[in-house]
Amino acid sequence: MQILRFKNYEELSGYMADFIVNAIKNKPNLVLCMASGSTPALTCDLLVQKLKNGKVDYSKLTFLGLDEWVRLPPTNTGSCHYFFHKKIFEPLQLSSSQYFLFDALADDLKSECSKMDKVITEKGGIDIMIVGIGMNGHIGFNEPGTSFAVLSHVAELDEITKSVGQKYFDGPVELGKGITIGFGHLMNTKKVFLMANGSKKAEVIKKTIEGPVTENFPASIMQKHSNGFILIDDEAASLSSKSYEG
Ligand code: PGA
Repeated sequence: MQILRFKNYEELSGYMADFIVNAIKNKPNLVLCMASGSTPALTCDLLVQKLKNGKVDYSKLTFLGLDEWVRLPPTNTGSCHYFFHKKIFEPLQLSSSQYFLFDALADDLKSECSKMDKVITEKGGIDIMIVGIGMNGHIGFNEPGTSFAVLSHVAELDEITKSVGQKYFDGPVELGKGITIGFGHLMNTKKVFLMANGSKKAEVIKKTIEGPVTENFPASIMQKHSNGFILIDDEAASLSSKSYEG
């Protein structure tokens, strides 16, 4: 695991977007898995700008959505579907064969999980995974207590996830379950980037970097990944005892 520290959110997001652009240039059929949410929002915007301005061929790119709120329709502005359509798929005019998102309205959610697992296998694995971190240390909907070996699965959401998650919605929403790519896939991903910014993430970042590796604090799995990168800004790094190079 390596730690990369940036002055602020803008620099962190710029670095991440440049990294993806170069990865697509080097491997046009890149398999990219991303989380939605506040943290990767600017990375998405910059990525679209840079791909367009740089006249990069992204027609062979495969995009996987990390997770989705179960039973939330894709038209809900707080859904991961809505986020990726607005931020990535529409501006880049990706073909629908290029992206895979969980259908959280499906009757058979287990089969949604199998479908995602199959896509990942058929595409030869995930090249780059970009995730955020929740206030309980979750990654995607891999909540505290989730096995580090699990593949795509349906998760009962933690109380913290349900309450913090309200920020994505216009009004109160009843949240119960999530569907998510699991840690078995994260561990097999060639490069994983966990991004965090702002002082509210300082405590969970300290635990991620310095705490014990335990399924009770999911993000600690990053310590086990030989190509795991923690991208943090000064504020998110502020409680960590070590000082990291910028
Ligand atoms: P955020 O979400 O990027 O909106 O802070 C992080 C997460 O819960 O994974």
